[in-house]
Amino acid sequence: MSERPMNGKVVVVTGGNSGIGLETARVLSALDARVILACRNAEKASVAQADIEASTGHRPEVLALDLASLDAVRASAAGLVERCSHIDVLINNAGTFATSRAETADGFERTLGTNHLGPLLFTALLLPLLRKADQARIIHVSSEAALHSQPDLSDLQMTRSYGRFGFDAYARSKAAQAMASRALASRLEGSAVTVNAVHPGHVATNIWPRHALVWRAVAAMQSWFALTPAQAAPRVVFLATTELDGVSGEFFKDDAPMPLPHELTDENAVQAVWARSLGLVGLDETHFT
Ligand SMILES: NC(=O)c1ccc[n+]([C@@H]2O[C@H](COP(=O)([O-])OP(=O)(O)OC[C@H]3O[C@@H](n4cnc5c(N)ncnc54)[C@H](OP(=O)(O)O)[C@@H]3O)[C@@H](O)[C@H]2O)c1
Repeated sequence: MSERPMNGKVVVVTGGNSGIGLETARVLSALDARVILACRNAEKASVAQADIEASTGHRPEVLALDLASLDAVRASAAGLVERCSHIDVLINNAGTFATSRAETADGFERTLGTNHLGPLLFTALLLPLLRKADQARIIHVSSEAALHSQPDLSDLQMTRSYGRFGFDAYARSKAAQAMASRALASRLEGSAVTVNAVHPGHVATNIWPRHALVWRAVAAMQSWFALTPAQAAPRVVFLATTELDGVSGEFFKDDAPMPLPHELTDENAVQAVWARSLGLVGLDETHFT
């Protein structure tokens, strides 16, 4: 497969201050892309900015983005519209994992709000800029955890049961995102914008909550088997830099699309999750026509 040149390409990386996002931003900066780190913590973003500049000689830009607030997402997208004439690659990398239930500013279950609903609104608001690129890519940094779950539309916000250890909420949020990604791909058919999800592997990062014994143990064991963020980043970079002939709506693992379970591809279920998600972020189908 051939590589497309990245020099001058505008790439937005959410959560680009840490873990997989930081290393992805580093590789793309080294390839001379114009990288924008969209981060919720200005101090961490500025450390990442200096770190990437020191290692690549390219200084990425920083944009404030809190995915746990729809108002903040709108403000951030508006900031990009002011700054950029187009976007070539949007990497929805930021994500969270939480052992106990909490809510976002908009009253969404925090994991769903941060991992799926915030990124959905951000993506939708950036579509006009993505449509202005010659060939734009939307990349969701997903997780294999999605394959073991599906959103429960009768209790999407998990008010009845949050499950144990936070895994259910995380898996459901990634499943919802994978399903919405398929729905979005069908709406973008015939355009120059593709959307795909990618499992980056099991990676030793800050995402595992250190205050819970079970996840501290997982984090400790990770030193034996997990990838480093620098080893995982190429799997995300692959989707940004490789000529993929309009491949869209796929879920990648190890640089190739993989089949998803029926629960995540069933057309009725996909459309139901899409419709509910759009309603929650205040959008309708007209936004995608
Ligand atoms: N690690 C793995 O094994 C693994 C496996 C599969 C998929 N993934 C996915 O990979 C992605 C990156 O995670 P990581 O493992 O690299 O963990 P990480 O180092 O903790 O990075 C997560 C990033 O998301 C940001 N973030 C969290 N909540 C946010 C919010 N409300 N608004 C904006 N940004 C927010 C974090 O910002 P702060 O630094 O301010 O917290 C951080 O920059 C996630 O989507 C994760 O689900 C990870």
